[in-house]
Amino acid sequence: MVKIAPSILSANFANLAEDIKLLDVAGADMIHFDVMDGCFVPNISFGAGVIKSVRPLTNLIFDVHLMINEPHDKITWFSEAGADIITIHAEACSDIIASLKKIRSLGCKAAISLNPSTSAETIIPLLDYLDMVLIMSVNPGFGGQKFMNEQLAKIRTVKKIIAGRDIVIEVDGGINKDTAPLAISAGADILVAGTAILNGDDYQANIKSLQNPTGEK
Ligand code: DX5
Ligand code: ZN
Repeated sequence: MVKIAPSILSANFANLAEDIKLLDVAGADMIHFDVMDGCFVPNISFGAGVIKSVRPLTNLIFDVHLMINEPHDKITWFSEAGADIITIHAEACSDIIASLKKIRSLGCKAAISLNPSTSAETIIPLLDYLDMVLIMSVNPGFGGQKFMNEQLAKIRTVKKIIAGRDIVIEVDGGINKDTAPLAISAGADILVAGTAILNGDDYQANIKSLQNPTGEK
C-alpha cells in the first residue's frame, strides 16, 4: 500500500508536539518536514532545531525536505537533528553527487527532489546515489496549492528510469482524495500531504482517504 507522509507545514506550530503524537496514532508512515530558506523558495519555515526538539516524541521516520540553496554544509545539522531521509533539490546544488554521498555517509537515506520544470532525466547520472526521488507536483514554497496534472507523466518516466533499482518515488504538493489515485496509478510509493490531512480534525480518516481513495475494502 502507498505510504503517507503528513507535512507539518500545515500544522499549528503552537501545538506541534500534540499534532505529531496524533499523526503517529492516526497511522502516518512518516513525518514530512518542509525546511525553507526564503532564497531557494520565497517562504521561510523552520530549521533543524525544530526537528530536533520533536524527535523524542515518536519513532516515526523523519522525512526532511530541504528547500534551501547549497545545502551541502548544512546536511549534518539535519542528520544530527534526527532525520532518517534527507531530500535535496537538484536545482539548489552545485555538486549533487557529493551532497547525496554525504547524506548516506551520515547514515540517512538520500533523495533528490525535482521542481515541476525540471526533467525526469536529471536523475539518470544520480541513480547509484539515490534511495528516493521526490517529484514536486506544485512549485515548492507553500502548502495548499493545486496539484499539477502535467507532473503525472514525469512520475511515469521516473518509474521507468528507476526500474529494477531499490529507489522509491515520493510525490509532494496538492495531494488530496481526488489527486492521490492519479499519483498512485502513475507510480507514487509515498504521498506527502499537508492540507488534506491537517486541515481537519480526524487525522486517521484523512490518512485513510489518501491510502484508499475509493473507500474499497
Ligand atoms: C511545498 C511543500 C509541501 C507542502 C504540501 O513546498 O514541499 O510538502 O507542504 O502541502 P499541501 O499538501 O497542502 O500541498
Ligand atoms: Zn515537501
